[in-house]
Amino acid sequence: MADIAFVKPALPRHGALVLLVPEGGEGGSLHAAAATATDGRLPKALEAAGFKGRKGQSAVLWAPGGGLSKIVALGLGKPEDVTPEALENLGGTAWPLVAAEREAVVAAEALTPGLAARFGSGLKLRSYRFGKYRTKEKEEDKPKAERIAIATSDAAKAKAEFAPLSAIADGVFLARDLVSEPPNVLFPAEMAERCKTLEKLGVEVEVLGPKEMKKLGFGALLGVAQGSAQEPRVVVMKWLGASKAARGKKASARPLCFVGKGVTFDTGGISIKPAGGMEEMKFDMAGAGTVIGLMAALAGRRAKADVIGLVGLVENMPSGTAQRPGDVVTSYSGQTIEVINTDAEGRLVLADVLWYAQEKYDPRFMVDLATLTGAIIIALGHEHAGLFTNDDGLAAKLEAAAKATGEGLWRMPLGDAYDKQIKSDIADMKNVGGRPGGSITAAQFIQRFVNGKPWAHLDIAGTAWAYKDTPITPKGASAFGVRLLDRLVADQYEG
Ligand code: BES
Ligand code: MN
Ligand code: ZN
Repeated sequence: MADIAFVKPALPRHGALVLLVPEGGEGGSLHAAAATATDGRLPKALEAAGFKGRKGQSAVLWAPGGGLSKIVALGLGKPEDVTPEALENLGGTAWPLVAAEREAVVAAEALTPGLAARFGSGLKLRSYRFGKYRTKEKEEDKPKAERIAIATSDAAKAKAEFAPLSAIADGVFLARDLVSEPPNVLFPAEMAERCKTLEKLGVEVEVLGPKEMKKLGFGALLGVAQGSAQEPRVVVMKWLGASKAARGKKASARPLCFVGKGVTFDTGGISIKPAGGMEEMKFDMAGAGTVIGLMAALAGRRAKADVIGLVGLVENMPSGTAQRPGDVVTSYSGQTIEVINTDAEGRLVLADVLWYAQEKYDPRFMVDLATLTGAIIIALGHEHAGLFTNDDGLAAKLEAAAKATGEGLWRMPLGDAYDKQIKSDIADMKNVGGRPGGSITAAQFIQRFVNGKPWAHLDIAGTAWAYKDTPITPKGASAFGVRLLDRLVADQYEG
């Protein structure tokens, strides 16, 4: 990943120059200087390319003179187009255009420091790469960018505005790293170890192993784990930023809780999945990955809020010790569950962790994230995560954060008629409700473990993996939810 710096405007003597150009205007002093340094080739080339600075327009000039290897002109569009979201996306779009250059300077004089910082954030988010297992990659295929300097009139201000955005991007990178790791490397105990790296950011990390969970009575989670040679873990991560800021002067508000499904590999268990595409199920810990990345983001930018992240980490395997379809387990809440299908395991894991979270921490709300159902992909594709909640106020706040970050949410219904689908003949409930409304009955199941507290469930099965590049997300693990939930905390709970 390239180092992103904010500097005073000065024309580089080599590498790439990126010009951010308003519609019908010029990109500031560096634009003019580049015109001179290229003996007038820059304006001629832009004219020939029909480049007018319109939103979405771009032009590339190779070896334009002045020692530069390339000049990239990017259109900013009209004043009303110049929004933080647009600039973040533009920064992301710029990354592939400069990645092959050792150095690049971005002429961002047309932007406020805040918008220049957003451009830098987009650049950084798009520059993510999971390359650790490639040993034979050709040098020319690797990104070379070492330093990208964003030139603005107030570099100190832009740098200060970039700092929290950079911390959020680091949280996104952590989540992407975790989700990208193969399942032989990232099993529950290893994932718990990675959570401990957050201690250096000031996060308190507590790990529960199978002994503690047995004692507590996490029968639903342990039932999923029992078929695997890998021990389960529950990790509690506390960032008490509001209490820290208050320094004991006032009693702190109740915390916010985020809970993640962390199935490090989902074979389906005895209700085994078909072989085709099963390797994708390494991403079944993405909910937990997002919660861990979120905690890193909040701590990294020293958010003034008390937030607790909890993740339930298990591997769902078939074996002689695996749970059977037909087993009845007793959850931590005391409610019994008939396990009809061992592949509906995520809800079993969340059941115990959510009950524990509400009982132990009395949170203002709980938001859980889970790659919970294939059905949500049928309903919403890859464009929105499903939002299920018992609290209209929380829905509105989440939807506002979704809009601001471009991480789409679509609210889905809950209701008694759906809840009836998970009635069991011999236990308090069964873990599947049939094919109709499969994502909704999964959410109904989870709702039975929130004890009536304010709660939202995000089914991220369709959004946790990007199947193609988008401006700020390269193909692969998306870390969906880190930016969204960071924004929820920042806009609603740090005042
Ligand atoms: N992890 C899967 C959900 C999933 C499926 C995510 C496909 C991404 C792509 C979950 O544990 C699961 O297997 N759900 C079942 C539930 C069914 C047995 C009621 C499903 O969606 O098929
Ligand atoms: Mn499953
Ligand atoms: Zn699963």
